[in-house]
Amino acid sequence: MGRTATKRERCMWDAHNRRIDYARVSITDRCNLRCLYCMPGDIPFIPHNDILRYEEILRVCATLAKLGVKTVRVTGGEPLVRKGCPDFLKELKKVPGVKHIALSTNAALLEPHIETLSKLELDSLNISVDSLDPETYARITGRDALSAVLGSLNAAIKAGLRVKVNFVPLRGLNDNEILPIARLAEANPVDARYIELMPSDAGNCVKGVTSDEVLAILANEYPDLKSDNSPRGFGPARYFVSARLRGAIGIIDAVSNRFCSSCNRLRLTSTGFLKLCLFHGDGLDLRQMLRGGASDDDIESRIEEAVYNKPESRQAQGGSNPESRIGRMSQIGG
Ligand code: 5AD
Ligand code: SF4
Repeated sequence: MGRTATKRERCMWDAHNRRIDYARVSITDRCNLRCLYCMPGDIPFIPHNDILRYEEILRVCATLAKLGVKTVRVTGGEPLVRKGCPDFLKELKKVPGVKHIALSTNAALLEPHIETLSKLELDSLNISVDSLDPETYARITGRDALSAVLGSLNAAIKAGLRVKVNFVPLRGLNDNEILPIARLAEANPVDARYIELMPSDAGNCVKGVTSDEVLAILANEYPDLKSDNSPRGFGPARYFVSARLRGAIGIIDAVSNRFCSSCNRLRLTSTGFLKLCLFHGDGLDLRQMLRGGASDDDIESRIEEAVYNKPESRQAQGGSNPESRIGRMSQIGG
C-alpha cells in the first residue's frame, strides 16, 4: 500500500513566538520625489552594481516563500522608477508560495501601468498622498506631481484595484487635511491611512502629529467611528469603520504604540540586506551569499537562523539609541 505524502506548508517562527510571513522588498533606493521626511535635497544614490538584479531578488523571494513568507510587498524608493518593475511583479506573482503581492508607490508614474497591475491581480496597492492641495503637495514632496498622482489614484479605483491611501500628517504642513483625506474613503471604496512620522536619518526637519490627535479629529467628524478587526491588510494598521465611509480609516501608530509583539515582517533592502527590524541594524547580507555562489540550502538555513534571532522589540539588545540606526527610509523601503 502506497502512502501519499502530504506536502506540509512550512512556516517560520522566531524565538519570541512570532510567525514571520510577510516581506517588504525594496527594489531601488531611487525616487522621483523628494519628500521632506524621506529624502530632502540631493542625496547620493547607491551604485547600480550594488543593487540586486531582478533574478537575484526573485531567488531570495522564492527562498523566503519556501520558508513560509506568503505576502511580498514591493517598495522603493519609488519602485516604478526602476525599469521593468511591472514585469518583475509578474514574475513575482509566479513564485511558488507567494500568495499575495502588493505594491507601495507614490503613484506619480503609475497610471500607464494600471491595466497591467489589474490583470496581474495585485492584492494591495498603497498610494502615498500627503496633500490634496497642489502647492502643499509640492512643498512636501519637492515635485509638482499631484495631478498625476490623483489621475493614477482614480484610474486604480476605477480598475477595481484594492487601494489604500497613505498620508503622513505633518505639523503645520498638511495637518489641516486630516478630514479631506478621510473624505476619499467616503467617496470611494479605499482605505485612508494615517501614518505617524517615524524618526529616520532624513526627517528631523519636520514634526509629526500623533495618532491620538488624528483619531480625536476623526471621531469628532464620524461619531459612529468604531474599531474593526476584520482582516484587511498584512501589517500593523488598526482599522476603524463608520456608516458614512465606504472604505476604512487606518491608523499606523508606529511611534506611540509599539506593535513589536505581533510583528510578522522582514525587510529586504535594495542592496540585498535582510533586515530583521526597522529599528535595528541586525540582519543578513544576502547579496554576498548570492554573489559568492552560496547554494539554496545555505541561503535557506542562514535565513532561518537570522529570522529566529529577530530582535524582540525596538528597545531590545541595548547599545546606543536604536532609532539612530534606522537608516534612510528610501533604502529600507518603509
Ligand atoms: N515616517 C512615516 N512614514 C514614512 N514613509 C516614508 N518615510 C517615512 C517616515 N519617516 C512612508 C511613505 C509611504 C510609505 C511607504 O512610507 O509616505 O506612504
Ligand atoms: Fe520617494 Fe516615498 Fe521617499 Fe517620498 S517617501 S521621497 S515618495 S520614497
